[in-house]
Amino acid sequence: MFIDTHCHISTEDYDNIDLIIKENKENNVDKMIISGYSRNTIKESLKLIDKYDCLYATIGYHPSEADITTEDDLNNLEKMIQNKKIVGIGEIGLDYHYGNENKNKQIELFIKQMKLAEKYNLPVVIHSRDATQDTIEVLKKFPNLVGDMHCFSGSIETAKIYISMGYKLGIGGVVTFKNSNLYQVVQAVGIDNILLETDAPYLTPEPFRGKINSSKYISYIAKRIAQILNIDEEKVGKITTDNAYTLFDLK
Ligand code: NI
Repeated sequence: MFIDTHCHISTEDYDNIDLIIKENKENNVDKMIISGYSRNTIKESLKLIDKYDCLYATIGYHPSEADITTEDDLNNLEKMIQNKKIVGIGEIGLDYHYGNENKNKQIELFIKQMKLAEKYNLPVVIHSRDATQDTIEVLKKFPNLVGDMHCFSGSIETAKIYISMGYKLGIGGVVTFKNSNLYQVVQAVGIDNILLETDAPYLTPEPFRGKINSSKYISYIAKRIAQILNIDEEKVGKITTDNAYTLFDLK
C-alpha cells in the first residue's frame, strides 16, 4: 500500500478524474495528498477532497504566485485551512530558477505562510529550487515546524541539514532517471527520512518518462528505492506510509 504525498490532480491535466483515481487504487495507492498552489488549483483541490474520500490536500501559494498573491488571498487561505482534510500548507517556498528579481516578495510570501502553519500547527510542504541557502534561513526562523522537502534533489549535506531541522525528503520519479545522483542521497539518509511522491502530472518515472504522470506509477519509485537500499518494496511502502501518516497526522 502506498500514499502519494504530493501530486496535482486537476481537470486541466486529466479528462477523467474518476478513472485516474480508480487506476491509482488498482495500483495500491490508497491515499493521495493533492497540492493546490494557486488561486484556481486551491479552489479545485477543495472540491476534490470533498468529493473523494481517498484525497487529502495541502494548499499554499507557490513562489511563482509571489507577484500576484494579495492579503485577501492569504486571509482566504487561513479560512480554507480549517477544513479537516487540509493536512498541511504548501507547496510554499522559493524558486530562483527563472531569476530572483522578486526574491524579496518570494521570501515575504513564504514567511507569511510559515507563520500561518505555526499558528495552526500544520506541517509545511516546501518547494525550493536554486534557493537552498535562503530556504534554510527561512526554515531556521521556525524551529517548531516540521515538513516535507518536496521533490528533493540537493546534496547529501543539504539533505542532512533539512533532516536535522525536522523535515522529511519527498522522493519521486527523478530517482529512477539514469542521469540522477539522487540514489546517493537515498543511501545516505535511509528509508526513515523518505516520503514517496509522484508530483504528477510532472516528473514521470522510468520506464514511462515522457508520458503524463499519475500516482499509479508510484511503485516504480518504490522499486528503485528498494533496490538502492537493498530492502524489499513492501517495506518501502510500509515505512514511507507510516512516515506520511505521522507527518501529516492522517487518520
Ligand atoms: Ni508539485
